[in-house]
Amino acid sequence: MATTVEAPGTSPIGRSTPRVDGPLKVSGAAKYASDFHFPGMLYAVPVGATIANGRVVKIDAAAAEKMPGVRKIFHRENIGKISRSVLGPGFEGICDERRPPFEDDVVRYYGQYIALAVADTFESAKAAADAVRVSYDKEKPNVSTDLKADDEPQVVVTTFGPANRVRSERGDAAGAFASAPVKLDQTYVTPAETHNPIELHATTAIWDGSTLTLYESSQGVFNLQGVLAQMFGLPKENVRVITKFLGSGFGGKLWPWTHCPLAAAAARQLGKPVKLVVSRKMMFQTVGHRPRTQQRVRLGAAADGKLISLQQDYVNDKAILDHYHEDCGEATAFQYSVPNLRVAFGRAKRNIGSPTAMRGPGAVPGLYATESALNELADQLKIDPVQIRVLNEPKIDESLGIPFSSRHLLECFSVGAEKFGWSKRTAEVGSMKRDGLTLGWGMAGCTWVAARFPAAASVQLRDDGTARVACGTQDIGTGTYTVLAQLTAQRAGVPLDKIEVVLGDTSLPAGPISGGSMVTGSVIPAVFAAADNAIASLLNIAVTTPGSAFEKRKPDELAFEGGRVFAKVDGVAKGVPFADLLGRANLRLVTGGGEGAATFGNPKPKFSTQSFGCHFVEVTWQAEIARLRVSRVVTVIDAGRILNPLAGRNQVEGAVVMGIGMALFEHTTYDPQNGAPINSNLADYVMAVNADVPPIEVHFLDYPDKEINELGARGIGEIGLAGIAAAITAAVHHATGVRVRELPVKIEDLI
Ligand code: MOS
Repeated sequence: MATTVEAPGTSPIGRSTPRVDGPLKVSGAAKYASDFHFPGMLYAVPVGATIANGRVVKIDAAAAEKMPGVRKIFHRENIGKISRSVLGPGFEGICDERRPPFEDDVVRYYGQYIALAVADTFESAKAAADAVRVSYDKEKPNVSTDLKADDEPQVVVTTFGPANRVRSERGDAAGAFASAPVKLDQTYVTPAETHNPIELHATTAIWDGSTLTLYESSQGVFNLQGVLAQMFGLPKENVRVITKFLGSGFGGKLWPWTHCPLAAAAARQLGKPVKLVVSRKMMFQTVGHRPRTQQRVRLGAAADGKLISLQQDYVNDKAILDHYHEDCGEATAFQYSVPNLRVAFGRAKRNIGSPTAMRGPGAVPGLYATESALNELADQLKIDPVQIRVLNEPKIDESLGIPFSSRHLLECFSVGAEKFGWSKRTAEVGSMKRDGLTLGWGMAGCTWVAARFPAAASVQLRDDGTARVACGTQDIGTGTYTVLAQLTAQRAGVPLDKIEVVLGDTSLPAGPISGGSMVTGSVIPAVFAAADNAIASLLNIAVTTPGSAFEKRKPDELAFEGGRVFAKVDGVAKGVPFADLLGRANLRLVTGGGEGAATFGNPKPKFSTQSFGCHFVEVTWQAEIARLRVSRVVTVIDAGRILNPLAGRNQVEGAVVMGIGMALFEHTTYDPQNGAPINSNLADYVMAVNADVPPIEVHFLDYPDKEINELGARGIGEIGLAGIAAAITAAVHHATGVRVRELPVKIEDLI
């Protein structure tokens, strides 16, 4: 078995490396989008609709406009032109709510922005927003949680894998199910969940003549640039988006939301910088959420547990204007071997804000359903849940008909079972006890796509022995600053503390969105190529600079290692540090640019590239006082080479904590009368907190996947959340005998 250990020698790759940006964060010097202040800056507070369906009849801003410090109350009549945006090439022009704010007077969900108060202070703007009087033509909203597809369900062609992922249909799923000796037919429900990063969405917009600068809390600065350029009719290069730090996003900050063009439109008219920070309450209304899903899973199996047929039919709710598809079938067609399969989906229109990607979109609710069904089938057949998965291990990706580049799911199971002590499990419900508590043990498998987005980067080597790496990606708190520093250190032989990392700015080489767990995998080829090009320049300088030790040589007789240029015949010991070479040439720096191509969406992949893993979970159940706790988790992840085990473990632990919240607490509830998200605050929207978090053991298998990049590193941001809810509900059943198929598990379900 391979485990991640400290890399040999001095390589920073594979070494547990504390965040290079850690000191900035803990000292408060790291600047988030709302931390930027400018002279004359104004504050904007939106007014949200208090109905979820209907029409704005009148906006009376007279009283608000007269309040002290108020500059303007914007609404549909006076905001100025905000155009729509369309999809451009690549990740450019994506947004979930495509209707620009204030485009018409129709209200389609509760909290939809209908006016904007701008004032000298935040307090004045808030008071003015509260003083705006709105009358409506009101209709009853539809926020029903009983989901039936509006249109005929379609077979899934998954949107998040290779472009040619085979339709999720093979064999005769219905026929094989009908004649299968063993059957399971159950429906699983996941609720709407709201992203609650600590950092609120925020925009500070500055118009400088024809140029728009946005300080935004964004997981994708280039996409946001493309959307805003279209909305305001500007050349792309006249829009600059800056995101230096993110207090996370979980997918909610991937694509622009309507507050951003509102702030920009206000800045355009008032000729002053405008700051708009979305309130926590608005975070539940206007900036996306994971939609509710209802998934019927039918399994047909032989008596020994071998799958014969798998059908998954799911529905997610969506907003009135968007077509968001929660791709619950993303992993279904390849995770296990089954000859007859059909995955179909539909959507149900509701008066809710647009859903959007939330950590592990699609696969997370999808695997909750399919892994739960597999656990139930195992119980039905009295087979160990690990064993039923081993039995159904595929030889290839059966959806694409191609091999996996690197799949070690069986080893994940064996390592996880061994670390957890799974062999001591007794199958009977309620049969395991400890200290007067009933124990429940459950497990599940997981997977997440691995691919590369296009990426560009530049690397500079400087005459003081330092280096600078620049890439217009973002660090959502996962460790991208540190990974960029590690990669540059590795290739340029510069110590980590002598590397300046610059990211989060559309003026830099275009970097990937912080999404899909793909940043690390994507930036590796770009940074390495950039460093190599900087080094190539340096070698040319070494042979052309008068007085250089290498003046008589040709560049190809030289090599570079550990920050030193040397003649191959002499060896690195006789090398010269690059700072000395640059100094002799009177050069401050050399720069190299590099790019990495996308593998995401490759129409003809030779290999199916996925990460894999599993969770083993223990819960304790105290029936007398109806107390359920997750008491222990062992998670094993096969995500290729792990560049930074410290940051990697942190990602997986965080995902497991989020999974405890998904299984036991999180759900956004809509008021059937007015359509408002009811629990729209951090007191009523319950999430896992420190007291809910048990010891979490994370183990990485460390098999480099060279299909992804030369280091073999896939991503780890999302996979830890996949499967965990199924493992927890299986453990709950094992302890209590209660099958909960609608998340979250509530105490009332268990008593
Ligand atoms: Mo993630 S949902 O791709 O930010």
